[in-house]
Amino acid sequence: MKFPVFQIFLTGFLLFLLTSCSPKKSVSVGLSDWKFKTGDDMEWSDPSFNDSDWENIKVEHTWDEYGYSDYDGYAWYRISFVLPSSLKEKSAYQGDLIIELGKVDDIDQTYLNGVLIGQNGETLDLSDTAGLRFEQIPGGWAKFRIYNLSTDDKRIKWDQENVIAVRVWDRGGLGGIYDAHPVIRMEGLSDYVQLDINSTSFSIQNQTNFNKVIRLVNSSDDFSFEGVLSVSLMDRFTNDKIFKEKLKIKLEPNSEKEQLISFQTEPGRNCSITYSYTEIKSGEKIIFTESLPYILTPPVPDKARINGPVVYGARPGHPFLYKIPVSGEKPITYSASGLPAGLNLDSKTGIITGKAMKKGIYKALLKAENKHGINEKEFTIKIGKKITITPPMGWNSWNCWGLSVSDEKIRSSADEMIRSGLADHGFSYINIDDGWESAERLPNGKITGNEKFPDFPALSDYVHSLGLKLGIYSSPGPLTCGGYLGSYRHEFMDAKTWSEWGVDYLKYDWCSYGEIAKNRSLPELKKPYFLMRKALDGVNRDIVYSLCQYGMGNVWEWGNEVGAELWRTTGDITDTWSSLKGIGFRQAVVAPFAGPGSWNDPDMLVLGRVGWSDNLHPTRLTPDEQYTHISLWALLAAPLLLGNDMAKLDDFTLSLLTNDEVLAVNQDPLGRQANRVYDENDIQYWLKELADGSLALGIFNLNEGVKNARLNISDLVLNGTYAIRDLWRQKDLGRFNDGMDVTLPGHGVLLVKLSEVK
Ligand code: GAL
Repeated sequence: MKFPVFQIFLTGFLLFLLTSCSPKKSVSVGLSDWKFKTGDDMEWSDPSFNDSDWENIKVEHTWDEYGYSDYDGYAWYRISFVLPSSLKEKSAYQGDLIIELGKVDDIDQTYLNGVLIGQNGETLDLSDTAGLRFEQIPGGWAKFRIYNLSTDDKRIKWDQENVIAVRVWDRGGLGGIYDAHPVIRMEGLSDYVQLDINSTSFSIQNQTNFNKVIRLVNSSDDFSFEGVLSVSLMDRFTNDKIFKEKLKIKLEPNSEKEQLISFQTEPGRNCSITYSYTEIKSGEKIIFTESLPYILTPPVPDKARINGPVVYGARPGHPFLYKIPVSGEKPITYSASGLPAGLNLDSKTGIITGKAMKKGIYKALLKAENKHGINEKEFTIKIGKKITITPPMGWNSWNCWGLSVSDEKIRSSADEMIRSGLADHGFSYINIDDGWESAERLPNGKITGNEKFPDFPALSDYVHSLGLKLGIYSSPGPLTCGGYLGSYRHEFMDAKTWSEWGVDYLKYDWCSYGEIAKNRSLPELKKPYFLMRKALDGVNRDIVYSLCQYGMGNVWEWGNEVGAELWRTTGDITDTWSSLKGIGFRQAVVAPFAGPGSWNDPDMLVLGRVGWSDNLHPTRLTPDEQYTHISLWALLAAPLLLGNDMAKLDDFTLSLLTNDEVLAVNQDPLGRQANRVYDENDIQYWLKELADGSLALGIFNLNEGVKNARLNISDLVLNGTYAIRDLWRQKDLGRFNDGMDVTLPGHGVLLVKLSEVK
């Protein structure tokens, strides 16, 4: 069979055709109309208490939205309802009764008929100034409160009136029950069986063959389940059901089954996948949908190809380190002519080291050769004041490991940068974010690494031996945002220490400097950054200076003045569409301030497995949102700093990061940042001038659904005929003088290059 083909390989189970199976109605009682009163009285837990004069309240949102804005302290919610015994009789599994409350900001005590049945959060004593310890609730206050009771629990009154009373304590910000559609229900399938589609990613061959292992986990001690796993694929553009396949799976108590899902589609086909598991006896179902990570980047050729920027800057007399990024089959032999005096190339590793003493512009010619052929590239080395003449590319530990970063994780990330081939496309920085610092300075005031970082010089030697560069993090305040030691009053000493360690990049994060600054005036905002610039100027190393102060005081207007190479323009990014959209599409205002060696930083990439801790998950961005992310960051000439677990790079994420035509837009030597030139009906055009006179254009669809749009050349304030090339697909689309029609996936993009045909 040609496309589409879909197969599920059965491991010991028979293929099973689902005969029609009518699911039983879910057995639950909704709890929507609550009574509410601020204050605190333990009598309010009593079922016989008369609450008829209390306010009526809903619980979809915090109490602030229902007229109790900024209320802090105790408040009570009450609801009465009849619990029919038919609930347990109809239940397929005869398990526990479950009370689902919703989230509670901050702490709750929940009573059924006057008896405490559950509590989340430690202290309910308002006078306790140590106060709110929501971190003692695993998952924080945003944890869904779910309480279980056995059906023969004496606190439950079957077929009679029951009262739930919730005592809530809140301090600061919003308060009360929220995000809630509370129900009382009998345990159902999803309480026992988890359908895990996120532990592994798709492995993808030739853009067409998809394989992934999903897991079905039965955590019940008592029940076994017989059900049907169904996987179906639907084309996003045509809504065609491409395939649906079903198989019968039996789950014994406390067991799990892995299932290989395997199918083919046409290259680049944009599909959604629905997974469901339906228990045969009860008809209960668990269901998940995800988008197929379709690859557009063509396979990287076997022939040696020199990637990366065409221009590179370093300061005279400072240690020089540049690994020529070359893709293609290894081994590769490297050579170069025209390098500045003092620099040497290792012909086996492609790493250029040494010191160039004389300022100047050097036109070098790089050569790379493997068994498939030779590739040459002109490479300009500018020995002078400017470094990071093109935006830095690399990895930073924060979005992935958060404060749990360690020497070992840094080394393994550097190894993976090489092994994955990302270094062959220009990724070179390995940056340690917060969490490396010791609790106290040495008696002489010198900072050291904590127990997770025993030996910085050895670590940087290791990273440098791979041809990669090492970054570090600090704050101008006494403490970093993670509560570690900052550089306040130790700026010169720290710069010297980092230089001795071999650090190549510093992220300098405002954090607790807020307590030192007299106010938020421009001189106060600039002061600590001038100081560290001075300190960095005193060392004999190129250390990229990256400001992080979330855009305060329009930092883009003066980042250059304080001598930074880049500056964060926003707060922290996270792996959701609203965060990506909120940050990425607000960068038009900062566009004029970008240029070679001066970059706006809309924060790091949220691709691959991220998590800000040891608990990682696949990015919550859909594949189309990820195309948007990289396309926009390329157009914005933003630093491309990955923030994912490098050991778990999947094929799709790699394809997003190894498209050299897309990366070339980011690394273009003209250094312009794209500007928004069109914005209607949530279709936006972002246009970036490139050094060769051509233009890179992203057409973004910020709508949820598929949209047709017409790209009018005149909307771009252009005349003439243009050759248009699709950069993700690396394919010429033709010559156009009026425009072309495009179809854009929801939250997706078409990234093209327009070259005028004279
Ligand atoms: C934040 C910063 C993050 C990360 C974190 C570390 O202020 O924006 O990117 O560096 O601090 O504590």
